[in-house]
Amino acid sequence: MKESIPSTEPIGQNLIKLISNLCFSVFVFSVLIFTVIAITYQPPDPWLESAPAITKLFTQSENATFKNDNSILKTGEDLVAASAITPAMAVEPITESVIERSEEKLTNLSVKSSDCEELRIVNCSDPLVLIAVERFNLKVFKSIVFLGYQTPVNGSKSDECDVAWRFRNKKEKSWRKYRDFRRFKFGIGENCTYKVKHASGWHSGINARRPTRVNSTRNGGSPKIVPTIRDDEINDTIPTLGSEMNFMMGRYLYYSRGGDYCKGMNHYLWSFLCGLGEAMYLNRTFVMDLSVCLAGTYSLSNKDEEGKDFRFYFDFEHLKEVASIVEEGEFVRDWKKWDRNHKRKIPVKKVVTYKTTPMQLKKDKSPIIWRQFDAPEPENYWYRVCEGQAAKYIDRPWHALWKSKRLMNIVTEISGQMDWDFDAVHVVRGEKAQNKVLWPHLDADTSPDALLSKLQGLVQPWRNLFVATNEPFYNYFDKLRSQYKVHLLGDYKILWSNTSEWYNETLLLNDGRPVEFDGYMRVAVDTEVLYRAKTRVETFYNLTKDCKDGINTC
Ligand SMILES: *[C@@H]1O[C@H](CO)[C@@H](O)[C@H](O)[C@H]1NC(C)=O
Ligand SMILES: *[C@@H]1O[C@H](CO)[C@@H](O)[C@H](O)[C@H]1NC(C)=O
Ligand SMILES: *[C@@H]1O[C@H](CO)[C@@H](O)[C@H](O)[C@H]1NC(C)=O
Ligand SMILES: *[C@@H]1O[C@H](CO)[C@@H](O)[C@H](O)[C@H]1NC(C)=O
Ligand SMILES: *[C@@H]1O[C@H](CO)[C@@H](O)[C@H](O)[C@H]1NC(C)=O
Ligand SMILES: *[C@@H]1O[C@H](CO)[C@@H](O)[C@H](O)[C@H]1NC(C)=O
Ligand SMILES: *[C@@H]1O[C@H](CO)[C@@H](O)[C@H](O)[C@H]1NC(C)=O
Ligand SMILES: *[C@@H]1O[C@H](CO)[C@@H](O)[C@H](O)[C@H]1NC(C)=O
Ligand SMILES: *[C@@H]1O[C@H](CO)[C@@H](O)[C@H](O)[C@H]1NC(C)=O
Ligand SMILES: *[C@@H]1O[C@H](CO)[C@@H](O)[C@H](O)[C@H]1NC(C)=O
Ligand SMILES: *[C@@H]1O[C@H](CO)[C@@H](O)[C@H](O)[C@H]1NC(C)=O
Repeated sequence: MKESIPSTEPIGQNLIKLISNLCFSVFVFSVLIFTVIAITYQPPDPWLESAPAITKLFTQSENATFKNDNSILKTGEDLVAASAITPAMAVEPITESVIERSEEKLTNLSVKSSDCEELRIVNCSDPLVLIAVERFNLKVFKSIVFLGYQTPVNGSKSDECDVAWRFRNKKEKSWRKYRDFRRFKFGIGENCTYKVKHASGWHSGINARRPTRVNSTRNGGSPKIVPTIRDDEINDTIPTLGSEMNFMMGRYLYYSRGGDYCKGMNHYLWSFLCGLGEAMYLNRTFVMDLSVCLAGTYSLSNKDEEGKDFRFYFDFEHLKEVASIVEEGEFVRDWKKWDRNHKRKIPVKKVVTYKTTPMQLKKDKSPIIWRQFDAPEPENYWYRVCEGQAAKYIDRPWHALWKSKRLMNIVTEISGQMDWDFDAVHVVRGEKAQNKVLWPHLDADTSPDALLSKLQGLVQPWRNLFVATNEPFYNYFDKLRSQYKVHLLGDYKILWSNTSEWYNETLLLNDGRPVEFDGYMRVAVDTEVLYRAKTRVETFYNLTKDCKDGINTC
């Protein structure tokens, strides 16, 4: 029953193919992208507001072959309340009262000069400059939590300073921090204070962008400063177990690759979180295969693609922090080494069927419990371990799963370029619009004219309007441009082009091979930008009376 596992060509071969196809590329590539989006894009589920709701959705498909739904699931950072923030990571946000406190301290320290002339030359390291910026930001960016500023530095003119800070969007519930740096122009305000006269856009304060110090290895040169805007806060290196003793002290739960491989991403997550949940229940370290197979519905080639890194899509650093995991390669290497070096092999409990429940394994003391999934489909799905009685004992750790920070940096960049001041409409078309049986009105209700007249009642004219959609035709939304500043994901492709930060960073993860910005990443980014809009217009609540899952389902 393995026939559903696709042909597995080595990446190198794929690359050669890709290159040989380049003659077609302009035409084929664009058609492919559009087709893929058309096929894959499904709406995020606005009604999936909580983890229990997600659980309910999935358990309905229990025992059946997993019904593939390509919508993007809300992950931990969309679900977990801010109260679940790791205390050590929590930083006091810069609020008005914090600013007042530092202001007070300053006025107590120095006798305030009554000579406003002094302010004519802006001294960027003057704490009053920072205070002016902090006040300005608080007033302008209401959807942002500011988490700390660096000392401002000179801009390009004498009345300018560049300021960098860390922040979080109020809509994101994780503690993850993002960076912005902007250029500010100052004047003199009331009572001899600095006043921000003008603030430039997202990432404009390039002098405040922190240089990363690296050691020059070539030419034996002295350490030099290389300015990059790499996100140096991401640390998702693969942890090693260290000594043999460390390995032997551990208790592991090891899942062999099952029938889930190359299924849809939601199926993957549902299965992965079952395994991780069982490991947590058994108080064991989960052995994790970081190599993911991207189903053809999301890949640009339309074929299943192996060898994707978990870290392209999800936040491995966060996972490492909240769950006990070990990477499969590291684990197998240490295991083999131990067995080679010692007379007594490590006792392994092999479990051949998912019908052996987690509860039965609770008492087992073997260092390694190895679940093998060799039965025919659908008996070889990981998630079957969590069915039936086990569902009462195992909680899927949704909080452990966040989207990749690298993807979220793109989301932040797009939102930031619109200064977080945008509305969004979610336009679901694609297959659903073509299926008149299940969605009789969807096509008409999302036609350009219908969209424009509907939106006029919901979104003010000339607002930034982000359109999250699976509609492949870029110019489909041109009618909206007569009333709105329309933004589409495609407008931001520079953010994942080969000159982008994302490209550089994923290249490092992928042994120097370029990573495609695939269909899943697109939908993930599209969806997260949508979540950050001030006004959000949904297809299935606001644009049409058709039901999300077809006629008579709502
Ligand atoms: C799944 O299978 C079990 C027995 O194998 C059965 O008791 C249960 O009702 C089934 N669930 C569904 C949703 O069909
Ligand atoms: C500043 O001085 C005022 C009184 O002049 C005092 O009430 C306040 O606590 C002082 N603030 C700080 C931060 O020292
Ligand atoms: C700018 O302000 C800082 C901090 O108050 C001070 O140390 C520095 O001397 C000032 N520089 C000039 C040129 O006034
Ligand atoms: C910043 O600009 C001021 C004058 O505008 C100058 O005195 C100072 O040296 C500059 N600081 C740096 C670090 O270049
Ligand atoms: C300027 O000072 C006066 C008197 O101290 C005060 O009433 C006013 O609020 C101050 N203005 C600002 C903008 O701080
Ligand atoms: C850089 O060089 C310094 C001294 O030459 C050394 O102490 C430091 O560990 C080096 N850092 C890295 C990241 O190699
Ligand atoms: C990254 O995290 C690992 C632990 O997972 C730690 O050992 C390592 O020192 C960290 N590296 C950096 C550069 O912070
Ligand atoms: C889990 O295992 C650790 C060490 O392996 C042990 O200290 C802890 O008490 C265990 N917890 C439970 C709930 O069994
Ligand atoms: C980026 O891609 C363009 C064409 O798509 C190519 O001409 C250019 O050489 C590439 N640059 C790098 C750094 O790979
Ligand atoms: C990406 O890496 C290249 C080569 O290392 C570098 O020239 C470029 O500035 C980097 N781009 C970004 C956005 O960091
Ligand atoms: C969309 O519909 C939902 C549910 O009816 C409603 O709560 C929401 O306010 C509507 N959105 C807009 C922008 O009108």
